[in-house]
Amino acid sequence: MKEKKIIEMRGISKSFGGVRALDKVDFEIYFNEVLALVGDNGAGKSTLAKIISGVYPPDEGEIFFEGQKVQINNPREAREIGIEMIYQNLALFNRIDVSGNLFMGKELFLPGIWGKYFKFLDNKKMHKKSYEFLQGLKIDIGSTKKKAGVLSGGQRQVVAVGRAVLWKRKLLIMDEPAAALGVKESGEVLKLIENLKEKGLSILVISHNLQHVFSVADRIIVLRNGRRAGEKEVKYTTGDEIVKLIVGADVII
Ligand SMILES: Nc1ncnc2c1ncn2[C@@H]1O[C@H](COP(=O)(O)OP(=O)(O)OP(=O)(O)O)[C@@H](O)[C@H]1O
Ligand SMILES: [Mg+2]
Repeated sequence: MKEKKIIEMRGISKSFGGVRALDKVDFEIYFNEVLALVGDNGAGKSTLAKIISGVYPPDEGEIFFEGQKVQINNPREAREIGIEMIYQNLALFNRIDVSGNLFMGKELFLPGIWGKYFKFLDNKKMHKKSYEFLQGLKIDIGSTKKKAGVLSGGQRQVVAVGRAVLWKRKLLIMDEPAAALGVKESGEVLKLIENLKEKGLSILVISHNLQHVFSVADRIIVLRNGRRAGEKEVKYTTGDEIVKLIVGADVII
């Protein structure tokens, strides 16, 4: 039914002490897909996301990225191959402005000797490019001269995601991107996910909010007690069916 996979994981297990957080999980995301990972508290969703983004190594299992077998030893290695996890609170430098955050590590310097030998930053150009770039993501966060520390949770994610796009990441992981956000901001984050898909990225979104999941995802994978409990295409499923997979089909609700 589907095209190529951007990532495929086979037989992934992970334990923390006596807790088996993931038990031989197979998992895949297709190119340009929005995949929602759902499940109850403690089902193993964040653990799986952290394995993909290099935070934890799996105890067992294999990972293929764009068809190549890979070992992702830390978040830096994940970024190098094109995977970025967006954290709502950790991702930005609060005392630096939006443009500085976007271009962090990829700064533009003034032309000529001032830039080349004296490393003078071309702030004007970075602000202009940041502004255009954020407009391109169709989300207005106001001035790019605002310090990141004054941004709201939703705006912070826009900047963090913007940076990932600027760095040409291919797979973005968002763990509960709308948690702790108001209704309007949640809507903006969902819109952002749609815009990213339009730009050709693949997105893994973890959410407890099935309304969000149904509005934004192409496909849903359900984890239950560290195991893959099921997979459904959003077009061909219902909230009831997903809830049953989350709690276990034998449970009467
Ligand atoms: N660093 C850790 N040390 C010990 N146990 C952990 C650690 N991380 C996760 N666990 C355990 O592994 C299991 C899976 O946790 P995980 O955070 O992946 O669940 P989750 O599906 O993301 O849940 P939630 O919806 O509540 O965020 C839980 O039992 C959790 O307590
Ligand atoms: Mg979690």
